[in-house]
Amino acid sequence: VLISLVVILGAYIIGSISFAVVVSRLMGLDDPRTFGSGNPGATNVLRTGNKKAAIFTLVGDTLKGWVAVFLATLIATQFGLGAALPAAAALAAFLGHVYPIFLKFKGGKGVATALGVLAGLEPVLALATLVTWLIVAYASRYSSLAAVLAAIFAPLYYLFGANIAWRLQGSVTFVLIIIAVVLCYRHSANITRLMKGTEPKIGKSKSQAG
Ligand code: G3P
Repeated sequence: VLISLVVILGAYIIGSISFAVVVSRLMGLDDPRTFGSGNPGATNVLRTGNKKAAIFTLVGDTLKGWVAVFLATLIATQFGLGAALPAAAALAAFLGHVYPIFLKFKGGKGVATALGVLAGLEPVLALATLVTWLIVAYASRYSSLAAVLAAIFAPLYYLFGANIAWRLQGSVTFVLIIIAVVLCYRHSANITRLMKGTEPKIGKSKSQAG
């Protein structure tokens, strides 16, 4: 039990590292919480016009999710702990990004980190979800719409792919649903703007974001 708790806490702390804030500070850019949507995430960092910073943010926030699940899987195997531990670590890392201990629990919307934890749990599922994001983002130019739809599709893909691409695990299903709910909730302002037609498209400048 103690090992599991340490792993979950560790995953939460890894998830709490906001690459949007860290990368922006290192690259001398404005804090992403002060402009655009105010969201510490890759989409908002892109509003500075600095593509490199946005990519570093995206890669960092995704990788940390993957690392947290990867480490949890290693430890679970090592100590003969159940398959639920990586799933719990996935949720902890995602919630770390959204409610980070380092930023007074005011974090991002969890898109990149969700992708990372999915890649750690089921790479093929992560790929299908990423493709969904890419298709919607390409067609609509809305990062938020792509994120919300991809998050809703992920648990559905997981259920449909069960026994074909992977063995269904209750803990993973549960985590995917919680991630989808939290991610949609974190996008409520975006959803309102999408309905009003005022949501900025990908790459629009700082002032144009709501
Ligand atoms: O990654 C979050 C994205 O889906 C929306 O970001 O900054 O437009 O609220 P933003």
